[in-house]
Amino acid sequence: MTDYIAPRGTRDILPDETPRWQYVEQKFRETCGLFDYREIRTPTFEHTELFTRNLGETTDVVSKEMYTFETRGNKSLTLRPEGTAPAIRAYVQHNLGASLPVVKMYYIGRLFRYERPQAGRYREHTQLGIEAVGSQDPAIDAEIISLAVQFFKSVGIEKFELKLNSIGCPNCRPNYRKALVEYAADKVADLCPSCATRYEQNPMRMLDCKDPGCKAILAEAPKMTDYLDEECAEHFAKVQEYLTSLGISFVLDSNLVRGFDYYTKTAFEFVSGELGAQNAIGGGGRYDNMVHEIGAQPTPAMGFGLGLDRLMLTLDAMGVELPVDASPAVFLATIGPEAHQAAIKLLANLRRQGIAADMDYTGRSLKAQMKLVDKIGAKYAAIIGEDEINTQTASLRNMKTSEQKTIPWSELAEVLRSA
Ligand code: HAM
Repeated sequence: MTDYIAPRGTRDILPDETPRWQYVEQKFRETCGLFDYREIRTPTFEHTELFTRNLGETTDVVSKEMYTFETRGNKSLTLRPEGTAPAIRAYVQHNLGASLPVVKMYYIGRLFRYERPQAGRYREHTQLGIEAVGSQDPAIDAEIISLAVQFFKSVGIEKFELKLNSIGCPNCRPNYRKALVEYAADKVADLCPSCATRYEQNPMRMLDCKDPGCKAILAEAPKMTDYLDEECAEHFAKVQEYLTSLGISFVLDSNLVRGFDYYTKTAFEFVSGELGAQNAIGGGGRYDNMVHEIGAQPTPAMGFGLGLDRLMLTLDAMGVELPVDASPAVFLATIGPEAHQAAIKLLANLRRQGIAADMDYTGRSLKAQMKLVDKIGAKYAAIIGEDEINTQTASLRNMKTSEQKTIPWSELAEVLRSA
């Protein structure tokens, strides 16, 4: 045993598990390709102000969950807690809007939040995200949501709930905030301590509280959707119309506010019934003011982030079998040093010809090697002993049927390819 273990809230994804993760990531890449989104890779850390200024100072993430550190040059950097601000920082920095009217990006990235770890909540997690910058057409809202839906289905997640809301814009939100504060004014004493602070600092955050008492009080609160201005109301109606026309069902949830302050208009979340308290498998929305705040012309934008860790938990809970197989096609099982030496060259030849192959490097007996073949799940064992060395052949055994054939070394790759 070792004294070293992975830090709290982090996990190792072991070689046995990674094929499932890679499969899901690949499906995400393919789906993004179908919708014409291209990958962007941004640094793991950014200047701290990118997050403090753009996510909302009173949000949980900025106020208590960031991994912030000083560099040797006394600069403050932060491990990215989310992917939207970095993607938009890159969009502005590289003037991506100059080349295309709508820039569609996707990313698969590790994110860091100092949260209290629990099932489905980690201090380092991976998100599959997309951002579309440059259009306010509600059709792009529908496209973004439908990309997530198509991706979920492609990996076998058919059952989930899509919660939808509009949280308006800086034009209509102040009226709503006033109504909410008026509603809560005589209830503050009954709210949880966090919500009492939220009431003062950022009242709409109260709607996001998970405390059952607060939930009950806020269930009766005024609804943002009753306060939308004409433009926001029209936009929201169109988003719903397009989703319906695409056959995507949703549930309107007037208390859905999301965890960051940058959102405007459309906000949505995907919830899985397979998970416990941390049941959001993804979420996103519009953020029409961020591009301008980061330093470019006002440009509308929208995106989502899906929690890969929670997606994997959902797939496990649903018992979804993914068509993954990382086992090599063949394992060269050798008897004696001469065969071992011949196998080294044969192995290299097979691999050069695109056949996934492996052999023993620990001097095991043939019996132990055959056990290993079973364990790693190779479809064939190519046994090479003294006879085979003399005839330059291998005894190729189908591990499923135990059928065995003698194959010349020169034909091994071809036979395995067509097997
Ligand atoms: P978010 O809702 O904070 O949004 O995160 C998106 C998803 O990431 C969540 O629904 C959840 O599945 C997963 N997630 C978040 N935190 C954790 C955690 N500690 N452990 C495991 N999974 C987690 C965003 O981050 C926005 N940037 C999404 C977005 C993109 N909005 C517009 N564009």
